[in-house]
Amino acid sequence: MCDPVGWEDRGVRGCWPRLWDALGSAATVQSLAMASGAMQLGLQLVQQGAEARVYRGRFLGRAAVVKLRFPKRYRHPALEERLSRRRTAQEARSLLRCRRAGIPAPVVYFVDYVTNCIYLEDIIGSITIQDHINSVQDSGSDTSSLLNVAEKMGELLARMHDEDLIHGDLTTSNVLLRPPVEKLDLVLIDFGLSFISGLPEDKGVDLYVLEKAFLSTHPNTETLFKALLKAYGATSKKSGPVMKRLDEVRLRGRKRSMVG
Ligand SMILES: Nc1ncnc2c1ncn2[C@@H]1O[C@H](COP(=O)(O)OP(=O)(O)O)[C@@H](O)[C@H]1O
Ligand SMILES: [Mg+2]
Repeated sequence: MCDPVGWEDRGVRGCWPRLWDALGSAATVQSLAMASGAMQLGLQLVQQGAEARVYRGRFLGRAAVVKLRFPKRYRHPALEERLSRRRTAQEARSLLRCRRAGIPAPVVYFVDYVTNCIYLEDIIGSITIQDHINSVQDSGSDTSSLLNVAEKMGELLARMHDEDLIHGDLTTSNVLLRPPVEKLDLVLIDFGLSFISGLPEDKGVDLYVLEKAFLSTHPNTETLFKALLKAYGATSKKSGPVMKRLDEVRLRGRKRSMVG
């Protein structure tokens, strides 16, 4: 199969003039043409998710991943298209915001709003924090090193929140660990549900979502999550009201689950 992304079906070629109008530069249009050609060759599926497929390949000679958002079948196609586009745009904007603020995130190589594809730097050899925690736990070796990982993650999220960036889908699979693992070089990814907000409430909910995901994906890791929150509190300049909100959100969550 030479067209796994479905460029032909999606009418990429027919859209060049529109892109030309939107972007208005010969160099950009040339890079667009090369982009679609470059990534079509030798793409390898990395992950098939519910709303996106992630492929690994090369983009203009660089190791890249391409994330393609596709419509879910059960919603109206026009609504789907809008959602995919908005998420692709949010992902690109937030990745750029991270990089501007010096927060580690993949470089954005190219965004294609016709096919809702985003081309990113491949964090070569990385693994998700989720896989890392699982492999350390499964190996039966000393898990104390995981405390450092949790602390680093807390620091990183504090820096992200201090930029008023809410991730919207914090889980241990949306943070990568660059090799070598011992360097604890974390990279944030998957910003499709992110948004900008300075409200402690939004930051508290972001942490609550992570807490739920963390503790259900990694049972018996309460100490790890506490270490994460402690590091968050020590790093963020605005953590006081956020932690207060986190407590309130937890309480609301508990009340809701009691009511059923
Ligand atoms: N820039 C990247 N470099 C290396 N691997 C990546 C990169 N982006 C995503 N991945 C891999 O693809 C997986 C899915 O990407 P993600 O953006 O989280 O998509 P989804 O919305 O489907 O969860 C990640 O868990 C990671 O393993
Ligand atoms: Mg993800």
